[in-house]
Amino acid sequence: MRSAPFTLLLSAFLCTIGCSDDGDGGAGGAGGQGATGGTGGATGGTSTSAGGTSASTSGTGSATGGTSASTGDASSSTGDASSSASGTGGSGGGMAVRTPAASASTLREAGEKANPPILIGAAISGGGLNNADYKRVAAAEHNYVTAENEMKWDALEPNPGQFSWGAADNIVNWARTNNMKVKGHTLVWHNQLPGWANSLSGATQVEQAIRRHIENVMGHFKDRVDTWDVVNEAVITDSDTGVGNPRMRPSVFFNALGERYLDLAFEIAREQDPDAKLYYNDYSIDALNEKADFVYEMIKGMVERGVPIDGVGFQMHIGPPNNEAGGADVAANLRRFADLGLEVLISEMDINRCSNQVTAEEQLTYYHDIVEACFVMPECTGITFWGINDGRSWLNGWAGALCNGQSSQSLLFNDQYQKKETYNRVMDALMGR
Ligand code: XIL
Repeated sequence: MRSAPFTLLLSAFLCTIGCSDDGDGGAGGAGGQGATGGTGGATGGTSTSAGGTSASTSGTGSATGGTSASTGDASSSTGDASSSASGTGGSGGGMAVRTPAASASTLREAGEKANPPILIGAAISGGGLNNADYKRVAAAEHNYVTAENEMKWDALEPNPGQFSWGAADNIVNWARTNNMKVKGHTLVWHNQLPGWANSLSGATQVEQAIRRHIENVMGHFKDRVDTWDVVNEAVITDSDTGVGNPRMRPSVFFNALGERYLDLAFEIAREQDPDAKLYYNDYSIDALNEKADFVYEMIKGMVERGVPIDGVGFQMHIGPPNNEAGGADVAANLRRFADLGLEVLISEMDINRCSNQVTAEEQLTYYHDIVEACFVMPECTGITFWGINDGRSWLNGWAGALCNGQSSQSLLFNDQYQKKETYNRVMDALMGR
């Protein structure tokens, strides 16, 4: 059923020449992949075409010219998040598969020593950073940070043109102190919008508000944040699982500007930072479902129009109320987006056990197989978990998640910040096991 083990074997075969399989990635090469590097296959893609690793169901076939083995010059970046993964996407012909580290004792190290490296992220909350254990685990195990709420529109621009940076600065500065890269989340989203923004109307007002917000926010974090979720959750279906009547989501942005608000947001973001990585992000597009198909067509249109988009984040909230997606399904789905010349990222992963819709055994399998599906693809540049420990998961308190006061048991660490079996399965996938 699963395609990933096959690709790993293929990797071992192909890498006899080019890939650094000693796990330290330290062969050096010419500069590796800078965090802000361009989208075009910085890691080479010179070698043998192997074909057959992609299971694209999109009908686009292998737009990137099939697969190729690496020249293996990805630099490892122990301790320096700014030279970590990212920049590997692109249609220039990436590597066939990512090579795992030979040894690693943390998720972060496994990501940094893989070839090419891959960012291992977590959603971090200001509240969490008041807890010593939380901070210790967060920094030891991850090298990529998404602020859980502190960089959303309502937090940053509570009044028109009046910005509030303190809580976000705390997280960004903590991340940088710990050599972690930051993803700005999120510039344009229908949720967690301040009331004033929600009641704007007319194309001119809304366009001006988008422009002011993006320019100020990206301007403030320039040189500290160089990857951004530019637009979040622009598509809706009848069910949160991504099934039924996929369409553009009504919002203050869509209602005033139509679908072109996406192009506009990405264009403004690009003007603001020519080197930043700009992503579209959404939930329940993880499986091969109607919403994923719709988003695929939407993103393909943007790429064809020359809109400056660098990648797509698949939130990967698995279980109620969102979709369930097996490893093979995720692999095929990520593949078709990568074949558009884009990076793909797992951006908010958690697996909700509430109401037992996902059993303990299924949760372990999902964690392993989904992480593996991303890990083997060089175009998959990051895996972010939506929180550190179960007790602080957002799912616990959200009615849609069906927890009714129970713990969602959705993450990699328990309430005492000890590793769970879910952690071990993720580690296995990152180590090619
Ligand atoms: C969630 C946070 O985790 C919660 O604390 C908050 O109350 C609501 O938002 N998709 C996203 C994230 O893009 O920003 C959301 O985060 C979870 C779903």
